[in-house]
Amino acid sequence: MAEHIGIVGAGYVGLTSAACFARLGHRVTCVDSEKSKVDELGRGVVSIAEPGLAELVAQGLGDGTLTFTTAQAELHGADLVFLCLPTPPAEDGRPDLGVLERVVPQLGRLLRPGCVVVTKSTVPVGTAARLPGLLGRTDLPVAANPEFLREGHAVDDFLHPDRVVVGTDPPGAAAAERVARLYEPAGAPVVLTDTASAELAKYASNAFLAVKLSYVNVLAELCERSGADVREVARTMGLDARIGPEFLAPGPGWGGSCLPKDTSALLHAADSAGVDFGILRDAVRVNARQRARVVRAVRQAVTGSPAGSLAGARVGLLGLAFKAGTGDLRDSPALAVAEDLARAGAELTAHDPAVGRVPGASAVQVVDDPYLVAKDAAALVVLTEWPEFRDLDWPRLAASVARPVVVDTRNLLDPGALAEAGFTHVGVGTRPHTTPSE
Ligand code: UGA
Repeated sequence: MAEHIGIVGAGYVGLTSAACFARLGHRVTCVDSEKSKVDELGRGVVSIAEPGLAELVAQGLGDGTLTFTTAQAELHGADLVFLCLPTPPAEDGRPDLGVLERVVPQLGRLLRPGCVVVTKSTVPVGTAARLPGLLGRTDLPVAANPEFLREGHAVDDFLHPDRVVVGTDPPGAAAAERVARLYEPAGAPVVLTDTASAELAKYASNAFLAVKLSYVNVLAELCERSGADVREVARTMGLDARIGPEFLAPGPGWGGSCLPKDTSALLHAADSAGVDFGILRDAVRVNARQRARVVRAVRQAVTGSPAGSLAGARVGLLGLAFKAGTGDLRDSPALAVAEDLARAGAELTAHDPAVGRVPGASAVQVVDDPYLVAKDAAALVVLTEWPEFRDLDWPRLAASVARPVVVDTRNLLDPGALAEAGFTHVGVGTRPHTTPSE
């Protein structure tokens, strides 16, 4: 049954949800307070680089199932309204609910009775339960339906989710059935639960991924010291169906707009509840150490000592985004490493296929030609796992560096091919791979 769905907030989560619900045959009204964004979206201009998203927006606009507006009043006739509002971390790491607390009372004054109000973007445990109070209404059923969208895969994750979770109090209320029905075409397992469990499930999933990554990053350190290879260890672990192969690749640390924010929010929630979530605190601590480990590896590569000085050393960086497939620099471990290297005195040139510049006063010079980063470099450092870095002309890069060494923080490159090109390859959790002549 086609519903009239209201989406509040046309950010990454809201826009993906709006376009995908329209694709599934519903009539969608997407409201955002930013007029320029609404105007652009109305013309089909999508500034978020998400595969398939611009096409779905164009399709929805074309067949009239998707409209963008700044006028909240247009939500008056909606059957369900999804809140896709930002909850950025405040100074102390707790999610800031200011926008939600301002917008929800406004909705309370205009929605028609029976409209289901659903939290979609990540909100702290207890938020859905607060909605009736914020709405000032008891005739609007509420539900929690957290998103599990990965950047770079958002459309696919929305249309083909691993699972759908819908929280209502009590679980499985009529409103839950209505929300769950929207996802029926996906055929995914549906968890109908209470609102607090649905909200916590989102944080728990992201925090677990963070713990898994920190685990493998420490394991990589142990591999380096014991002569093992983390790729072999992780491959073996991943074949155990209980562990699974995903999120077992070490790197410069985990980042992005979600994992750091959500681990920090969950830690605060645990502290407030008097629960010692030490394992999570440790995962965060290990993550900071991982960045420091990369800096030490670069010092070692450039000077031959893990404590050597980088003052004046030219270092070429491949990758700045927090992961491949996105130009997002928010909480990027690559950028954090770059800033640490700059503080240590290195002169940095960087190339990232999706990043044109680093906002603010950054010490990183961004170039659009990957070969320019190699010029006179005392080391090259791979920080983001863009597959195209594998296909670079490595002999050509070798010809322009001052010192042929690559610190590959993602174990992205083929050490054998690098050695043939004349480079020493330093991976994470692996043994350094040197040219036969060295
Ligand atoms: C994450 C979750 O994966 C989504 O399920 C969730 O919906 C989303 O947050 C959110 O809360 O909205 P995303 O932030 O797009 O998605 O990033 P991930 O793909 O999870 O990557 C997180 C970090 O882990 C990146 O820095 C990535 O490079 C790193 N990573 C990932 C590794 O270092 N190794 C791996 O094997 C995998």
